[in-house]
Amino acid sequence: ADVRAGFAGWPVLALATRRPLGQRHIGQLRHLAGQLKARILLLPLVSGPAAVVTRPEALVRAVLAAARQLPDSTLVVPVPLPPRANPDEEFAALVVIAAAHGATHLLTDAGGRTDAAAKLGVEVLTEPEWAYDPAAEVWRPLGLIAPGTERGELSGAELAELLDTDGPVPSWLMPEGVTAELRRARPPRSARGIVVFFTGLSGSGKSTLARDLRDALLERGDRTVSLLDGDLVRRLLSAGLTFSREDRDLNIARIGYVATEVARHGGIAICAPIAPYAAARSAVRSQVSEVGDFVLVHVSTPLAVCEARDRKGLYAKARAGVIGSFTGISDPYEEPTDADLVLDTSLVSRRDAVAAVLAHLSRGGWLS
Ligand code: ADX
Repeated sequence: ADVRAGFAGWPVLALATRRPLGQRHIGQLRHLAGQLKARILLLPLVSGPAAVVTRPEALVRAVLAAARQLPDSTLVVPVPLPPRANPDEEFAALVVIAAAHGATHLLTDAGGRTDAAAKLGVEVLTEPEWAYDPAAEVWRPLGLIAPGTERGELSGAELAELLDTDGPVPSWLMPEGVTAELRRARPPRSARGIVVFFTGLSGSGKSTLARDLRDALLERGDRTVSLLDGDLVRRLLSAGLTFSREDRDLNIARIGYVATEVARHGGIAICAPIAPYAAARSAVRSQVSEVGDFVLVHVSTPLAVCEARDRKGLYAKARAGVIGSFTGISDPYEEPTDADLVLDTSLVSRRDAVAAVLAHLSRGGWLS
């Protein structure tokens, strides 16, 4: 009601978005609002992940930065609208939201029932086909540009890749203020938090690799590192937990929680629990992915080798039935199908295994 009252009788051109807006949208909004003599209403949709920047507050900041390139009367109103899988439902919801905020026009690239929109007093405008004209240095209708010279927008994935690798975002694509918000929300991988999560049987070599990796990273000196080793976590963070499925899941959830906080602040967290259950591992992956990156390393050393090593004598006890629910003997280990790296320490040396992890981190851009 406040927003509607603020527009007091003006035509209102609304745009709802789950992604940051660039020069193309800004150009089209200015052009159409000029034609319609309308005020502009931007509705960042802040429920569910935002394209490129992921988090809702980052989307709002990016849209506010774009609004600075639009007339002063432009309003930005975040709307907690969860994404609909069905495009018709998504479109219908956008129309209702736009109408409720006093919009008379809705600019969208989603098609849908325009008759229903008309009933709500909203005219639907399909985003016209525009491109950047390097000769005139403006975004304009494709038909006005010398064929073959036009440049299009980047897809979300292409823009994300540019930001991840610290590549240049040209100002004809994004105003500098928007780019600054994008870079803040999505720092380059070399400065972004990452969780390296080792999983594998007891005695597979996880802890050894995790410690060597930590030492190698500390020697480089350019990133902060936290090691959450299985045995150490069991003594502190997860003291008192058993090896029931419930407690193992809780143990992994706690490790995931701490690792996520480390990643949120741009650090590297190295985790090395058995983590036998795929569901618990993937929950950590998705939690971490909201704030940084996640690399799953499956230390796939075969059971027979782990058992033959039996450094702690636990396999013998498990075989003898002294310890129950022992992973690989009397308790399951769900082999990862989503590992980013697989290392069998019965086949590769300790040195080569750590080098493989470091190479993966360099290739991906997390280490420069
Ligand atoms: S997890 O399943 O919750 O991920 P975690 O890595 O913390 O396990 O702890 C595993 C370590 O606890 C093993 O390396 C081993 O030393 C010890 N341990 C003691 N009992 C068990 C058991 N029943 N199953 C597996 N590991 C056990």
